[in-house]
Amino acid sequence: MMPIDVVIMAAGKGTRMKSKIPKVLHTLGAKPLLGHVIEAALGLLARKIVLITGHESDWVRQGAVSFFEQHLNTDSKGGLDGASNGASNGVSKAKLEFALQMPQLGTGHAVQQAAPLLDNGGLTLILSGDVPLTQVQTLKSLVQASVSCGSSNLTQTSKPGSPVCALSLLTLNTKNPFGYGRVIRDSKDSTKIIAIVEEKDATPEQKKITEVYTGVLVAATEDLRRWVNGLSNNNAQNEYYLTDVVKGAVADGVPVSALSIDEPLEVMGVNSPAQLAELERAYQLKQAHSLMQTGVRLKDPTRIDIRGALDCGPDVEIDVNCVFKGTVKVGSQVRIGPNCVIEHAVIEDGAVLEAYTHIEGESSLKPVRVGALAKVGPFARLRPGAVLGTDVHVGNFVEIKNSTLAAGAKANHLAYVGDAVLGERVNFGAGAITANYDGANKHQTVIEQDVHIGSNSVLVAPVKIGASGTVGAGSTITKDTPPGALTITRAKQTSIANWTRPVKEKK
Ligand code: UD1
Ligand code: MG
Repeated sequence: MMPIDVVIMAAGKGTRMKSKIPKVLHTLGAKPLLGHVIEAALGLLARKIVLITGHESDWVRQGAVSFFEQHLNTDSKGGLDGASNGASNGVSKAKLEFALQMPQLGTGHAVQQAAPLLDNGGLTLILSGDVPLTQVQTLKSLVQASVSCGSSNLTQTSKPGSPVCALSLLTLNTKNPFGYGRVIRDSKDSTKIIAIVEEKDATPEQKKITEVYTGVLVAATEDLRRWVNGLSNNNAQNEYYLTDVVKGAVADGVPVSALSIDEPLEVMGVNSPAQLAELERAYQLKQAHSLMQTGVRLKDPTRIDIRGALDCGPDVEIDVNCVFKGTVKVGSQVRIGPNCVIEHAVIEDGAVLEAYTHIEGESSLKPVRVGALAKVGPFARLRPGAVLGTDVHVGNFVEIKNSTLAAGAKANHLAYVGDAVLGERVNFGAGAITANYDGANKHQTVIEQDVHIGSNSVLVAPVKIGASGTVGAGSTITKDTPPGALTITRAKQTSIANWTRPVKEKK
């Protein structure tokens, strides 16, 4: 396989987004548009990725670098100079480099700025930073088309020694070609592509053509460099059109091939908030369908949002309007109620998350854990560091932060458990809280196994409640308690007989 360098164009302003944030850094499924494109390049095992920036250049570069680093760290612990391997996870050893395009004089001008960074002896694939959903498989087929079409065509006259490859265009058949460059084929031989004509330069006859250029092309690097350096801006927009490389190829006798697809989603660009939202829905629906193909039962595939990676075991049921963020792993026979928000979590077999459960793990390496057969919610909140063992129950309006609840522990109503360790079968009563913060530092509460904490108690940390002990309802516990004891701090109850309540004075 010939080495592939990928050029990503991202210098444009994105005026129609009406946003300060550069267009390519707006997100789809919580990932920057540019991130999707970089991922596709990495999936193609690119040798080098050259990002062309212009408008808000520093911001875009920063966004690209942080995505690149994050992606490589999650996937393979590689550095900026590429991942350490390509074997186990298909991540390429790509390098990320930048070209500055100032001012922006068109897509051809953009590629001119990248050309000096491209190494000879390979192919260059051109992508746009605002077209996020092109499948790696489609790009592979396009590259394949360039290599095989080129080598089977003996008339090509590239410079001696340069690879024999076609200029391959990704094209789309569409009923709505408006705004796109039209693919012009030879009237005598429709297998031959002779030009791409931009909307603004097209004749009424050409505007009827329904095969359009998608903005994605691949060619031998030496050829592409020669063609872009020879471009002129003699057209309706006085821009240097990348699409005019087709004329260069025709003049050089290099074959031009097209891979035509019918799925507009793959090549749809984002120009406005409405298009971004449309693409987001389509993307989510696609993820929903892949989940269902693995057996997950979604109550409604149009009402789920996966903003990260969701992995489910067999017999998982997910009700409507759930949002999954980061990395979420769900075991078998788990039931997730409606309106749950779950970020960075591991949910073990048979657990039930009732409606409105909010789970917020810190990262994929530090997820919230919900043990097998646990019952959580409705309206429960599990914050970073929450670890629930087997058969733990966490009920409504209970918040758990940085705490471990061992098997069978229960906190069923209106409670706060922070920086605590609860032993097996602990019952943490309604309205009880750990007072873990003294205004400056956090302190730990340890509750040993089989303890019952009475309702509305305050456990002032640091404090330890001995095994099998009981804390009387309404107690404020500031000192460690012995095992097996009832500890109670509230005043003794007294009754004053025949008590008359005060009455209002007459004026
Ligand atoms: C381009 C194609 C058109 C195709 C369409 C597909 C050209 C001349 N036309 O048109 O045939 O149908 O894409 O979506 O290429 N950019 C730069 N620098 C520039 C100009 C653009 O980096 O000077 C970047 C933009 O940020 C964007 C990409 O290139 O990511 C495409 O530019 P855009 O202006 O959207 O091109 P189109 O007019 O849509
Ligand atoms: Mg465009």
